[in-house]
Amino acid sequence: MLALALTVALAATSLVRAQDNDTATVAAAFMNAGIVPDVLSSFAPVLPLLVTFKQADGSSIEVTAGMQLTIAQTANEPTFALVSGNAAIQGKPYLIAMVDPDAPTPQNTSISQVRHFLAPDFVSDGPVAGTWPMTNRTPALSEYMGPHPPDGSDAHRFVSPPLVHTMC
Ligand SMILES: *[C@@H]1O[C@H](CO)[C@@H](O)[C@H](O)[C@H]1NC(C)=O
Ligand SMILES: *[C@@H]1O[C@H](CO)[C@@H](O)[C@H](O)[C@H]1NC(C)=O
Repeated sequence: MLALALTVALAATSLVRAQDNDTATVAAAFMNAGIVPDVLSSFAPVLPLLVTFKQADGSSIEVTAGMQLTIAQTANEPTFALVSGNAAIQGKPYLIAMVDPDAPTPQNTSISQVRHFLAPDFVSDGPVAGTWPMTNRTPALSEYMGPHPPDGSDAHRFVSPPLVHTMC
């Protein structure tokens, strides 16, 4: 069984937006952006997820709520880290998915939701400087595919709801 544990990134065509360290801020951002109910029927984030995109020049962009990014800025598979003070997350597998609910455009969502990433086995071995870097233990089911909106499209949302696996 999968239970929703957290979430985060909205992005766009520009992608978008995402995490903050405060789950209330993230929840409000998801409501405001229509992620609930377009992508998730309900959303109660438990832990913030940090989503970071490495850039061609070697710098990094850490995504925050409301941020709008370009196609080039989101070309590389992002890195993920959880923010938690709870050691119980160590070694627990998380599923991370990234979807675009605005395909081909926000005005015509006939081919949404487009799956951009699906990897069920992200784990963290322990905290590094206050965050828990996640690494994928097994190959992704769908390798990361950067956004490719049609020319002239408005910004798309790009949503990354990570799910924690719970054994029942
Ligand atoms: C969130 O917290 C982590 C760890 O304290 C920090 O590295 C990161 O910069 C913070 N991000 C934001 C958007 O405040
Ligand atoms: C919506 O997008 C689909 C897929 O690209 C396309 O076939 C269709 O013609 C579009 N509809 C409108 C009203 O533009």
